[in-house]
Amino acid sequence: MTQPRIPTTVLGRGAVAATVPVVVAALLAAAGPVTAAGRAGAPGVGDPYFPRAGNGGYHVAHYGLTLGYDPTSRHLTGKAVLTARATQRLDRFDLDFKGLKITGLTVDRARAAYQRSGQELVVTPRRALHKGQRFRVTVTYRGRPAPVTDPDGSPDGWIPTDDGAFVAGEPQGAMTWFPANNHPLDKSSYDIAITVPENRSAVSNGVLLGRSTRKGKTTFRWRQTEPMAAYLATATVGKFKVKQYTTRSGIKVYDAVDPREATAAAAPVLKKLPSVLEWESKLFGPYPYRAAGSIVDHAPSVGYALETQTRPIYGSAPDLGTLVHENAHQWFGDSVSLTSWKDIWLNEGFASYAEWLYEEQHGGAGAQETFDDLYATPAGDPLWAFPPGNPGSGAKIFGRPVYGRGAMALHALRTAVGDRVFFRVLRAWAVQHRHGHGTTAKFQCLAERQSGKNLGPLFNKWLYAQGKPRTP
Ligand code: ARG
Ligand code: ZN
Repeated sequence: MTQPRIPTTVLGRGAVAATVPVVVAALLAAAGPVTAAGRAGAPGVGDPYFPRAGNGGYHVAHYGLTLGYDPTSRHLTGKAVLTARATQRLDRFDLDFKGLKITGLTVDRARAAYQRSGQELVVTPRRALHKGQRFRVTVTYRGRPAPVTDPDGSPDGWIPTDDGAFVAGEPQGAMTWFPANNHPLDKSSYDIAITVPENRSAVSNGVLLGRSTRKGKTTFRWRQTEPMAAYLATATVGKFKVKQYTTRSGIKVYDAVDPREATAAAAPVLKKLPSVLEWESKLFGPYPYRAAGSIVDHAPSVGYALETQTRPIYGSAPDLGTLVHENAHQWFGDSVSLTSWKDIWLNEGFASYAEWLYEEQHGGAGAQETFDDLYATPAGDPLWAFPPGNPGSGAKIFGRPVYGRGAMALHALRTAVGDRVFFRVLRAWAVQHRHGHGTTAKFQCLAERQSGKNLGPLFNKWLYAQGKPRTP
């Protein structure tokens, strides 16, 4: 295996601390309001598109989630144990948690007062936390989880299906099934145990530690060791055909496929996963995780796939392009995380360009041809509706320009700096920010350093200028 092990800490059995990059630590430490009640953690991390997402004043190192789901009644019981560290004095702090009834809440085993308002769960520990203090929040809860509707109208979070639930949280839905610091700025390790009726499977992130059946119910215990943003967590439940194997490079693969999606066309796509990961590793550097796989659900109401960490989830059988896309996100989006949702092209533009490259290197259209075809799109088309580097609102982050013109921006960069430098930049980006965070400014800086060119005009033209660029 190629990846370095992250040192085990005393955070709990086998838990692993996620690293907090300096820039993030600074952001998370951004002072919250001082009120009559004392020092409070900010109710959001300051994301321009999702101002309530995440919270200030602390970093969550580890989530321990113990869930039980009954697909018939659609009832969820949960216990979340968050191991966190205060980055400022905290008389109170927020978590993001929407819906579901809270049945108990403690901070370091002492019952804590709390209030709820919208997605904010405001916790007042019995004793104030001092800066640097490590603390543990335990929340028990129950109820019928419901997805949130994103600004773009799509469902997000815990989405019930006819045999279980499709669970995907980009950008906001994690808070529909566990209390979280729900912004990609804060990444953590996870232990997720899910108990379901014995004729169902529960599939989550990372490695399956074990499963055990008692009194008609099976518990699946999953561990995500490497840092993960809350939106990439899943606990998908359904009737699945499961396949497990280890790749030649030692990655543990777990595939779960709804039998209704196990068509003749689907199997050859999933079988390509090891070769896709190998190809992507050659381009982007070592695969960032010890586990991989696919969750192919039958969720006709969903209509999208998500790059859930280590194991992308699909609402129906994916084609090869989609498999390449979601797995490219393991580097771009999952390992190298967003600092702000505004920079979403760093995820979607890169994953889309990975599809172009895959085509190009596997006997399909060249990337230049794909670029030219796209450039031929008339100026009035939605492709040119807004610049991908500045979508303008949370409703547009998954719009056409982010994917299409975002990929075009990378191709334009490639044309400007040449293949040798371009592929070096792509790889350096993934390697330098592995398990960390990126911003568009940092990416431009890297590309300028590696190429020795001023790329301001190019980034401006492809990422920030309104309308179809006048020249390709
Ligand atoms: N990141 C996903 C993909 O491109 C798309 C997620 C869309 N989510 C949404 N709520 N609209 O693979
Ligand atoms: Zn994507």
